[in-house]
Amino acid sequence: MCGIFGYYGRRDATPILVEGLRRLEYRGYDSSGIAVKNNGINIYKKSGKVERLSEMITTEVEGTIGIAHTRWATHGEANDINAHPHLSFDGKVAIVHNGIIENFREVRRNLTQKGVELNSETDSEVLAQLIALELAKGSKPIVAVRRILKRIHGTWGLCAVFSDHDQIIVARNGSPLVIGKGTDETFISSDPHALMEHTQEVYFLEDGDLAEIDHTGFKITRMSGQLSSTEVTVLEEEWGEVELGEYPHFMIKEIHEQAEALRQCIAGRTRHKQGTVKLGGLKLTPAEMRAIPHVRLIGCGTSLHACQIGQIAIEELARVPAVAHVASEFRYNNSVINPKAIHLAVSQSGETADTLSAVKEIQLKGGSVWGIINVVASSIARQCGMGVYIHSGPEQAVASTKAFSNMAASLILFAIQMGRTRSFSAERGRELIDNLHTIPGQIEKYLANPGPIAEAVDAVIGAKSVLFLGRGVSAPVAREGALKLMEIAYIPCMAYPAGEMKHGPIALLEKGSPVVVIAPNDKLKYKTLSNIQECKARGAKIILIHEEGDDELAEEADISIAVPKSEGLLSPLLTVIPTQLIAYQAALKLGHDVDRPRNLAKSVTVE
Ligand code: M6R
Repeated sequence: MCGIFGYYGRRDATPILVEGLRRLEYRGYDSSGIAVKNNGINIYKKSGKVERLSEMITTEVEGTIGIAHTRWATHGEANDINAHPHLSFDGKVAIVHNGIIENFREVRRNLTQKGVELNSETDSEVLAQLIALELAKGSKPIVAVRRILKRIHGTWGLCAVFSDHDQIIVARNGSPLVIGKGTDETFISSDPHALMEHTQEVYFLEDGDLAEIDHTGFKITRMSGQLSSTEVTVLEEEWGEVELGEYPHFMIKEIHEQAEALRQCIAGRTRHKQGTVKLGGLKLTPAEMRAIPHVRLIGCGTSLHACQIGQIAIEELARVPAVAHVASEFRYNNSVINPKAIHLAVSQSGETADTLSAVKEIQLKGGSVWGIINVVASSIARQCGMGVYIHSGPEQAVASTKAFSNMAASLILFAIQMGRTRSFSAERGRELIDNLHTIPGQIEKYLANPGPIAEAVDAVIGAKSVLFLGRGVSAPVAREGALKLMEIAYIPCMAYPAGEMKHGPIALLEKGSPVVVIAPNDKLKYKTLSNIQECKARGAKIILIHEEGDDELAEEADISIAVPKSEGLLSPLLTVIPTQLIAYQAALKLGHDVDRPRNLAKSVTVE
């Protein structure tokens, strides 16, 4: 989604800004631009890829102070004019903005009445115009920005440069912004990954923070003008640059990294002798775990599917009620919050606005939220203050793969830890732990010989739609498989719990309709088998993901993809992989940009 990069120092800003934008590209965007201060403010902006922008900057733009942006369109189409930065009517201020100005219509109207002509269709442009009007009254830049933000409703990660002041002013409210401290230079970004090549010393701004950046460094204050308590964080090595290596795309690289990522996720967390798990970041004693009345899991997209697996694992192992919720709905449904309950916010990026808002809502109502997060020190991780890092390592492809597996695995670990305090024996715990430790090796074994993926791809790419079915823990896997194929191959997909198929989607089946069925050899196998028969009776083509050696089931398939045998609850960690491969190969065959699918963003920072 939208990304911000900024530079204040002694070096030429332009190449640093363009490189910063390249590091933000993985997040998804549709236009980009830079503003560099020299005699006045020079702006270059362009729809399309950063490559197009850099081709456009033919003459060297001199200047050591600048801001840059990748835009993911919300208000106004993705064209050159709506791209950021936006320049004020008098040419004295340029801004880049992430977030949404909710009262922008009213503000635009007021500006028009004052004779200010707006150039773009965006909500963001009003910020530049308002700041310019404040500066014209004689306010200093920091005062001008602070004043105008008091009139704005919405969210912002804002950066402004000025033609008449050697300063950058930044502000955060609900949209991440990080300041990186270099030697005699300062960097700004909405994404800490983009700062790693310059510095590891960073300051994550809090909501309500503003910062004044100049030749002396920077000063972070609150909207009230008081000093902010924001402190330095030292970024870990794992946030560093991620290379493709031998792989053509990040998605396939990340699919193959799943085994190692899973090892990292489990490492040091299991206690074999006691048959339990220790997730230190939970900061919960066994007695506290025993007292928990229910668990609610909150996430979006792939993370929601991991939550649905977590729901089943927690109910099965810990015998405590658990429910997975769509974060964007949860936030606004005025949910009843029990302060004794556990709420788990699940997110790869840790920046998803819907999930972050739900976390804040729960906390406002007196509830406690634990983060199940990949990106260390991300907004959700910091907002929760406690939880579990899933340790997938950086995930660059927009389509989430290795994070899904580690989110599901972390939730299963949580279920084992909780279950041991309440319901099952050390022996059962040891069995689960042993089985979990065998999964990474089984993933490697499967990936070495993934079966007839190409045949499955041929069956889905020409289809009007693809139906994914599964029962129990395989129902969320079906949803995840459908989401993956839809988001990168742009094929309409539907996912249903297999038993629900006869209540509606069966109407779509005709001769040759592809149906992907996830059917491990678990207690629900024969139920799923009946649903396979129902599909076959209507001429559907069955692409079956099943357990190795389960010939009884394999015989029913048109295309049969076998994964290694595993304990039922752990089967999603294996059965999901063929669905990822089908999506990847289908998108490739259709000629799509696998890592950066259209319209999507890696980190969705608007509600
Ligand atoms: O960073 P998050 O895990 O919070 O992101 C949630 C969704 O936006 C994300 O999973 C999305 O659905 C992916 N593109 C799926 O591959």
